[in-house]
Amino acid sequence: MFSVAPPAALGISIPGRAAAAGHVEIVATDIRSFSSNKHKKTDDRPFGGGPGMVMMCQPLWDAVTATEAADPRAATRILFTPQGRTLSQSLVEELAAKPRLLLIAGHYEGIDERVIERLAPLEVSIGDYVLSGGELPAMVLIDAVVRLLPGVLGDLESNQQDSFSQVPETGQRLLDCPHYTKPREWEGLSIPDILLTGDHGKIAAWRLEQKLQRTRQRRPDLLA
Ligand code: ADE
Repeated sequence: MFSVAPPAALGISIPGRAAAAGHVEIVATDIRSFSSNKHKKTDDRPFGGGPGMVMMCQPLWDAVTATEAADPRAATRILFTPQGRTLSQSLVEELAAKPRLLLIAGHYEGIDERVIERLAPLEVSIGDYVLSGGELPAMVLIDAVVRLLPGVLGDLESNQQDSFSQVPETGQRLLDCPHYTKPREWEGLSIPDILLTGDHGKIAAWRLEQKLQRTRQRRPDLLA
């Protein structure tokens, strides 16, 4: 119908594995196939003049409504734009709990404001810098959401200890602690003795202290 192959980058690593195992289904839609224009045009020059092109209402509206109609689950509409709410781990967690997300990757120059008003999407930015389109932000969001879906990460790669995840001890969102693996000595550098004691209580307390210390040093804004 109107779906196209999702970007190849989604076929690898954790999102690729999650899709293969049926934890997530990713469908891509080509907005151009909804253009009523004979040249498959989806954008035009801005009223009032100025540089760049503006995405037209009709192809985007038709692409969104047709995509939504293909699945009975209500979709949360997300539009990527530098003017949106900045993506954070708590927003990622909120979105991972939704049954279906519909991601709109426009090009940056702009989208006709009337279709944005009508679609009323959640507008999301991935940071204070400008990309040429919403495709990379969409992939960032997909990766961050998919790794939180039940069953996607095994115990060995659990997301409980990720940076920005709430630590159960204090309820704060902290940066992660340092990690070490074999060998015990590398290039004259050893590892903190506490990690060799086998005392899980003490190790957990040390890790929490490290998380707090790192967060205080590098991201005091997280503690404020
Ligand atoms: N489109 C262009 N730049 C963007 C950004 N920083 N975040 C989300 N979408 C964008």
